[in-house]
Amino acid sequence: MLKLSKLATAVALVVAAGAATAGEVEVLHWWTSGGEAKSVGELKKIMEAKGHTWKDFAVAGGGGDAAMTVLKSRVVAGNPPAAAQIKGPAIQEWAREGVLANLDATAKAEKWDSLLPKGVADVMKYKGNYVAAPVNVHRVNWMWANAEVLKKAGVTGTPKTWDEFFAAADKVKKAGLIAVAHGGQNWQDFTTFEDVVLGVGGAKFYQDALVKLDQKALNSATMTKSLETFRKIKGYTDAAAPGRDWNLATAMVIDGKAAFQFMGDWAKGEFTAAGKVPGKDYICAAAPGTGSAYTFNVDSFAMFKLKDATAQKAQADLAASITGTQFQEVFNLNKGSIPVRLGMDMSKFDDCAKASTKDFVATSKSGGLVPSVAHGMAVSPAAEGAIKDAVSQFWNDDKISVADGVKSIAKAAATK
Ligand code: BGC
Repeated sequence: MLKLSKLATAVALVVAAGAATAGEVEVLHWWTSGGEAKSVGELKKIMEAKGHTWKDFAVAGGGGDAAMTVLKSRVVAGNPPAAAQIKGPAIQEWAREGVLANLDATAKAEKWDSLLPKGVADVMKYKGNYVAAPVNVHRVNWMWANAEVLKKAGVTGTPKTWDEFFAAADKVKKAGLIAVAHGGQNWQDFTTFEDVVLGVGGAKFYQDALVKLDQKALNSATMTKSLETFRKIKGYTDAAAPGRDWNLATAMVIDGKAAFQFMGDWAKGEFTAAGKVPGKDYICAAAPGTGSAYTFNVDSFAMFKLKDATAQKAQADLAASITGTQFQEVFNLNKGSIPVRLGMDMSKFDDCAKASTKDFVATSKSGGLVPSVAHGMAVSPAAEGAIKDAVSQFWNDDKISVADGVKSIAKAAATK
């Protein structure tokens, strides 16, 4: 009897302790497409299994512009979520405001300094302290293709140069299908644009023009060539592209209405959710001319300062879960990205993910690894917004000459 009552007391204590540490995590993100929602659902499951309550704060809009606007108003009102999808240089801007929490205790317990690539860890830190947890590595310079459409159009092999690409696109057009599935936000235009700049000018030129925003590079003949190529691609998109969401453009490739899409590998999350198999139903290949380069886009969650102790505990559990092996595997399998945690077992991943991992490592040694501007990895949010707008104006208005397009992009790049 005595033993039993002792046990009951112990159980009661454990339950009470559990209850005391279970808290709510409100997580702001923009993962609302089919593949994205499935992926973030895995994080929710992990947090719920730990006894926490997941409060979903999803703001639709690929690329995250709408989410960032909503986030600002919540923080200004003094009511931030526990975590928000914030990436790249924007992490530093938020940290400078003094609103982000210090994650060093979790980082130490979870060995982030040794488990994360150094370049990624540095971006997650502000003045040496961790303020954000990295989720994954997306490769942006992918070209997706529907295998059946290419066959129907008589395209053999995947185009490796822009000339080969236009020859293939002509065949698709002749076969009565849409060559390039494209959507209608500035970040989608820029995703294609940065592929073109990388393919036409190479990694060094990309760094000079789009990362260092060097005026000489921005006003060079290589930039003129890039804009000519970029404009030419538009001729292969359909008239209904303006305003279209990226995942609906991906669906056109999945459904065989279009041949190609230039998009990061979150597009693969859509193919995966639709039950499609790489190498059989669809092809993933580096965008033309970019085979020896890798445009990276690392998703991450910055964590905000919270007052309540249970909420802080739930937040720390969220940070630890994000870099844990369980989440790193299941999330990235669904999302199309690769784990950011080093040394992960990749046996369950498909050939596109394996190629991405191999190329990520190879390009980090060769100098071909470059940050995505379209996805907030490279320049300040103000400069990014300005050049994105200039590029989209050029894309949308055929009356703007290439020479004027070059000038206005260079001018926008001077925005501080
Ligand atoms: C994010 C991805 C997301 C994509 C489309 C990118 O900026 O990094 O995680 O899937 O936007 O919404």
